[in-house]
Amino acid sequence: MALRVGLVGWRGMVGSVLMQRMSTERDFDNIDTTFFSTSTAGKPAPMIQGCKSFDPLLQDGNDVNKLKGMDAIITCQGGDYTKSIYAPLRAAGWKGHWIDASKILRMNDNAIIILDPINMPVIKTALSKGITDWIGGNCTVSCMLMGVGALYKAGLVEWMQTSTYQAASGGGAPNMRELLTQYGALYAEVKDLLNDPASAILEIDRRVTAKQNAFTPEETANFRGIPLGGNLIPWIDADREDGTSLEEWKGGAETNKIMGIANKVLGSSDAPIPIDSTCIRVGAMRCHSQSLTFKLKKNVPLADIEQMIANDNPWAKFVPNNRVDTEKQLTPAVVSGTMNIPVGRVRKLAMGPEYLGAFTVGDQLLWGAAEPLRRMLRIIQGDIA
Ligand code: HSE
Repeated sequence: MALRVGLVGWRGMVGSVLMQRMSTERDFDNIDTTFFSTSTAGKPAPMIQGCKSFDPLLQDGNDVNKLKGMDAIITCQGGDYTKSIYAPLRAAGWKGHWIDASKILRMNDNAIIILDPINMPVIKTALSKGITDWIGGNCTVSCMLMGVGALYKAGLVEWMQTSTYQAASGGGAPNMRELLTQYGALYAEVKDLLNDPASAILEIDRRVTAKQNAFTPEETANFRGIPLGGNLIPWIDADREDGTSLEEWKGGAETNKIMGIANKVLGSSDAPIPIDSTCIRVGAMRCHSQSLTFKLKKNVPLADIEQMIANDNPWAKFVPNNRVDTEKQLTPAVVSGTMNIPVGRVRKLAMGPEYLGAFTVGDQLLWGAAEPLRRMLRIIQGDIA
């Protein structure tokens, strides 16, 4: 019998990317899909290519009894939904697979952060122990590990430091619109001067800066009053009041959890790997980039490291460390909308032969959000081993 799968939050940005990927990969062929909505139950289910919806109508995403009929539920509905429905659903005796894009359950002992090209052994062990909570990781962490997970798998990382360059999409769809609107407003401010080749660049710059600092609260509402167009913001997510942001904390906590390090449920007692981050929002659309510094446990030849990265998984692409390849292959604009995770700028650093630098880019809506969820469904069905 086909797996009965409930989809919640399929309309939003991550949900829409998930639907596209599920269509492309023909995930709908072997499941009975029920679409849920928290706002438009009773309306016709969406027409999604390749999906013959089992239930012609949208079901109520807050109806525990209806949700209980599912073998698996995938939610991209967001953290508030998880907070409100997960506990009552489990309390009602539901034993199905909960596959969730939000962070709410991520660090629970009984939840696994899913990134199967990197942590399939962890997922398999968890499946054999009857775990049923599968949570997508923080986008920055997932994209980083898809690129350089090989070094973690090989046990080579003594510590890692990353500076991130995170796209507007990480904040949500309105943040992307806000960024573009700001770019447009900045352009409009200096359009006449740009059209005049004799105009003074310092006057153009002065006007742009003045405009950035004069944006109204409405024009900057999604980034807490700070302009992102032509700017950057070196803080992402809540202030932990210890000098770090929540986004920075996730880097260490989630990387270790994904790799199955110091995991009570899996019975692993290894010491966590120190990982620290400075997380920065930049004016890119949907690709997160990161500059990585590693201290390796030993001096491994650069050619071996390059091979490890290139051969780790079908999506990690090693980019030779030269100007032309870097410019062509290692930018958000070229990676956006693709499954590729290029890793370049790989080199030994001046601090010594165990110190390694790298730079990686990934689409935060694909590997950073939607892709691990749909793959988990396939793992449950036995299609990805
Ligand atoms: N927290 C991420 C960001 C997105 O703000 O870029 C969600 O993983």
